[in-house]
Amino acid sequence: MNAPFDGLELGYDVPALPGMDEADIQTPCLILDLDALERNIRKMGDYARTHGMRHRSHGKMHKSVDVQKLQEHLGGAVGVCCQKVSEAEVFARGGIRDILVSNEVRDPAKIDRLARLPSWGARIIVCVDDLANVSELSAAAQKHGTTLECLVEIDCGQGRCGVDTPSAATAIAQAIAAAPALIFTGIQAYQGGMQHLENYVDRKAQLDEAVVRVKAVVEDLRAAGLKPELISGGGTGSYYFESGSGVYNELQCGSYAFMDADYGRILDRHGHRIDQGEWKNALFILTSVMSRAKPGQAVCDAGLKVQSVDSGLPVIHGRDDVKYVSASDEHGVIEDMHDVLRINEKLKLIPGHCDPTCNLHDWYVGVRNGRVEVVWPVSARGKAY
Ligand SMILES: Cc1ncc(COP(=O)(O)O)c(C=O)c1O
Repeated sequence: MNAPFDGLELGYDVPALPGMDEADIQTPCLILDLDALERNIRKMGDYARTHGMRHRSHGKMHKSVDVQKLQEHLGGAVGVCCQKVSEAEVFARGGIRDILVSNEVRDPAKIDRLARLPSWGARIIVCVDDLANVSELSAAAQKHGTTLECLVEIDCGQGRCGVDTPSAATAIAQAIAAAPALIFTGIQAYQGGMQHLENYVDRKAQLDEAVVRVKAVVEDLRAAGLKPELISGGGTGSYYFESGSGVYNELQCGSYAFMDADYGRILDRHGHRIDQGEWKNALFILTSVMSRAKPGQAVCDAGLKVQSVDSGLPVIHGRDDVKYVSASDEHGVIEDMHDVLRINEKLKLIPGHCDPTCNLHDWYVGVRNGRVEVVWPVSARGKAY
């Protein structure tokens, strides 16, 4: 048993301990197929390298320092993206040295926390889409004697944060470049709205439009004498478009590492589901059958408190004969027409949506060849502020 787990009680504190047989894991809990995870991470790393792209893996998906370190060591990720200052704090404390908060930070207390982070030894980059935010960030960094790097966020079609026009982007970039304690580092342009469109051609059409907008901003910046070092964006449903765009140089993919049932349904350029070759399912909710009081139905111990169903119900991995059909707080109802499931039988659920599902758990149990190899904390679990 690893020293960090001495004193932790199995079941009460942790769902599993390193070295245990997979069959003895307490449910419900998150398990990681380590072979699949490592394969996904290496594959994205190879893709980025051979296409001359940097990959800054999105840590809002896994919220784990250990997974991020694997992405850096095995996949060559240059650093992490996260969405919240509290996530950035967790990654900085955990030793991650290059952190992009791919989001705007406006609350004065949060700006203050962000501005002290470079003194913990990390490069900190943050998104800006409002001139007023420039002086707020600059004043806080001056107060802490630090430097913050800034990406101007442009809205390239998602309709969320980000400025709409090249002139607005350039005005903010100029203000950043002129501000004490700030560095203008580049642009963030993430088209999130198209990532889950099923059809490859539909996704490409939307990304092509985004690229036109990004190019116009880059030209305007260059005409004003500004050189964006990073042009960052892209997700699991689009990274090949950004890579081939000739304008982006950094990817921000997150879900590729774990995969989920909703993302798995989108199609690659050959019309194949992306979970049927491009990526492997590495994340599962391990659940046990706890009741089978009625014919044709079993009930498992994985309900709403261990998964997010905003993008659909989970899919039972490797089984066509049984189907997860409804969730309540602590229960999952499984259609079992042939009454094949047995009490305490374990099933692996592929969650509908990985990001909010991971945020509900304290631990990842990493499994290989039927044994528990690692137990990692979901380090930034609940860090939403
Ligand atoms: C800013 C930003 N970048 C990148 C991503 C990439 O995500 P994924 O690869 O999981 O689609 C997200 C996900 O929501 C995001 O919000």
